[in-house]
Amino acid sequence: TVPDVTDLVDRTVPVVADWPEPGVQFRDISPLLADPQAFATVADAMAQATGEVDLVLGVEARGFLFGLAVAERLGVGFVPVRKAGKLPGSTESVSYDLEYGSATIEVPSGAVAPGQRVAVVDDVLATGGTLAATVELARRCGGEVVSAVVLIEIEALGGRAVLDVPLAALRTY
Ligand code: PRP
Repeated sequence: TVPDVTDLVDRTVPVVADWPEPGVQFRDISPLLADPQAFATVADAMAQATGEVDLVLGVEARGFLFGLAVAERLGVGFVPVRKAGKLPGSTESVSYDLEYGSATIEVPSGAVAPGQRVAVVDDVLATGGTLAATVELARRCGGEVVSAVVLIEIEALGGRAVLDVPLAALRTY
């Protein structure tokens, strides 16, 4: 079972009200990242929640921080999923709506090998648009997405319902 890090997340990820827009409650992961013991504990817990995978995908920018730490713990590769326009050469891309704004994400063609078992990792699940798009991107490459793992789930925004893969959230608000 995945360790309970509820109190740790409450202590190290403060809420910033009404940022970047009125009505949005921003979760600031900076204090967590600045505390190496706390970060190691949450990264360990996230790595225990992915199930058996061959590859981890994480979305720019905050998904990189957690995704890479999880991949390293699992001893598997990490694919940084980039926002549009950052990658040279041939890419796969998916567009999606955000809690605020919209975005397109990309990976290099071939970044996920057909049949690879993939976990998608991010810091926060809000509307679910980002992770759903990441799942779609992995599938377009031929990957089999087995899990989504986030540090924080904002339950009221309904992201869990837009995902068709098992979701593990270390802390739900
Ligand atoms: C934030 C967060 C998630 C996403 C969650 O990223 O890191 O990736 O929003 O929202 P959703 O579930 O409604 O899609 P953001 O786009 O702010 O980019 P950043 O990581 O570069 O700060």
